[in-house]
Formats: sequence, C-alpha cells, structure tokens
Amino acid sequence: MSKRFLIAPSILSADFTRLGEQIAEAEAAGAEWIHVDVMDGHFVPNLTMGPFIVEACRRATNLPLNVHLMVEHPENLLEAFAKAGASHLIVHVETCPRIVSTLKLIRSLGCKAGVTLNPSTPVGSLEEALPLAEIVLVLTVPPGYSGQEFMAEEVSKIAEVRRRMDAIGSSAWLEVDGGISVQTISQVRDAGADAFVAASAVFGHPNGIAAGIQALKSALSS
Ligand code: DX5
Ligand code: ZN
Repeated sequence: MSKRFLIAPSILSADFTRLGEQIAEAEAAGAEWIHVDVMDGHFVPNLTMGPFIVEACRRATNLPLNVHLMVEHPENLLEAFAKAGASHLIVHVETCPRIVSTLKLIRSLGCKAGVTLNPSTPVGSLEEALPLAEIVLVLTVPPGYSGQEFMAEEVSKIAEVRRRMDAIGSSAWLEVDGGISVQTISQVRDAGADAFVAASAVFGHPNGIAAGIQALKSALSS
C-alpha cells in the first residue's frame, strides 16, 4: 500500500476578506487539513488569530482544523480552542514545562494532541512527549511569519524525529511546517514526513489556490 501524504494549507497567507471562500477552494482542490497559526506576540513577535477565527473556519469546512499554538501558557487556551472546533491542538515543547499533562489535557478535550519544537530546540526535548503525541510537527523556519526561507539544515532533524518515532512504534503524523514548496517538499518527504504545511506556496501561488495544492501534490508523487 502506498504511504498516505497530507497537505495542510496554512491560512496565515490567506486573504482574510474572503477566508471562507479560500478555505472552500483549498478543500475542493484536495487539501486534507487546514492549518491555523496562532501567535501571541510574546512567544513569537507576530500576533495573529484566536478561537474566534477557529470558530469561523469550523463553519467554513468539515476538514480537520490543525491548530498550531505559538503562545505562552497554552494550557490556559486549550479548552477555548477545543470549543471553537479545533481538531488538533499542537503545543510548543518550549512553552510546556509539564508536556505530558498538557498532551493528556488536549486528548481529554477530544482533540488530537500535537507537539512541536523550534529549529533551535534539540530533538531530545521531545523524549517525554513522543509516546503520547498523535502529531509531531517539525519547524523548518523560525516561527512567526509565512514566506520565510526553508532551513535545509533541519532536514536531518526530521529524519532523527522519524527514527525516534519508529523506535517507539509511534503511529503519529510527522508534520513539517515552514518554507514548503515544490522545490523543498520531496526532501522533506524523503526524510520521513507525511503531513506538509504550506502557506505561501498555496495561498500565494500565482495561478491560485488549487494550482498551488496540485503543484505540491504532484511534487510529492514524483
Ligand atoms: C510559521 C508558521 C507556518 C507558516 C508557514 O511561523 O508556523 O505555518 O504559515 O508559511 P510558509 O509555508 O509560507 O513558509
Ligand atoms: Zn504553523
């Protein structure tokens, strides 16, 4: 059986005057998840969206909402995001001194529990989280903005995370986020990723959202 790969367009680069239409277009073009980048202006310099936008996305699609929480003290916000309709809640290991209990809390709210780490954070920091995580997200840009350059030096980290997941028999998704494009997606796949976030390569594609998704899917299958 061929391996399953998922595309998760990040609405960070969407046109927010037409958010519902843009999500519908991504869904019609074959997007599997919708990625929502939540930034608090503290953990990362940028300030973006909260549960209110997740609730709007929930009304726009039935696709899983893959919510990436770049915030301090994420445990204070988990319930609000779950109530708003998040399907996956992904927390940064740097913000969770008690990562095991945070992941358990996410599961108790009925969401898939995800963990992520900054490019500067070593893979070893995931050790406690890996057995419980249902999604492991590796960042290939410093978090904060879309449209940044892919950090090729992070490819070996993806492979190391894949090795550690396989060693404990984890069936979690290994998702990669940052600078994903037709030029970079195949090396990320070859390192062991199976879910791919893309903001500018989808919403900023010169021929539109569907063309952006199709280009990524054909690069994945080549
Ligand atoms: C970066 C965000 C990413 C971002 C990706 O802080 O976590 O999800 O939207 O944007 P691109 O795909 O343009 O690198
Ligand atoms: Zn993200």
